[in-house]
Amino acid sequence: MRLLAISGSLRARSTNTAALDAVAALAPAGTTVTRYPGLGELPHFNPDLDGEAAEPPPAVAALRAEVAAADALVICSPEYAHGVPGSLKNALDWLVSCTDFPGKVVALLVVSPSAVFVHAALRETLQTMSAQVLDDPRLIVAMPRNRLDTAAMLADDALARALAAAIEPIAAALASSR
Ligand SMILES: Cc1cc2nc3c(=O)[nH]c(=O)nc-3n(C[C@H](O)[C@H](O)[C@H](O)COP(=O)(O)O)c2cc1C
Repeated sequence: MRLLAISGSLRARSTNTAALDAVAALAPAGTTVTRYPGLGELPHFNPDLDGEAAEPPPAVAALRAEVAAADALVICSPEYAHGVPGSLKNALDWLVSCTDFPGKVVALLVVSPSAVFVHAALRETLQTMSAQVLDDPRLIVAMPRNRLDTAAMLADDALARALAAAIEPIAAALASSR
């Protein structure tokens, strides 16, 4: 199983990114979790660059290739001003016309359960893009108040177990859609 992990935060010490890296470190044999590194380098979405005759910008072509190669996506994002961070929404806008996107399993990993607006907004956008958005309590992993890096998440037994379990509903969704 190949998972593409997308963090909605560009912050170097992002909790959301650290959680995805912890999920990657905990992935069982046979599952690879690759974090998409290019969110901050994508050009601003412009429909003029996205027509059928248009050659997509290289960074966009690379994103679409990574999405096509993945069995499923895992998105973990902070909430900004009760919404989706602009850079993440920008990436999703570039994926609207990606022919490999409809039907794609997308897991929304939630590490700050109080941020309800971003998850509702992501769900609405992803469902509009015909993704198969997963809804499972194993995707909700509340972080302690003090900010942890990946190593600290892995060192916390309960947290590590919870982050490892986030893979399970994704594997189950892929198995049942085959
Ligand atoms: C500009 C800005 C706006 C924010 N707005 C919200 C918000 O509306 N709701 C919320 O729960 N947190 C909000 N936050 C807090 C972030 O979501 C929180 O710090 C998150 O942990 C950052 O994620 P990261 O560590 O992955 O970068 C905001 C932070 C910033 C910088």
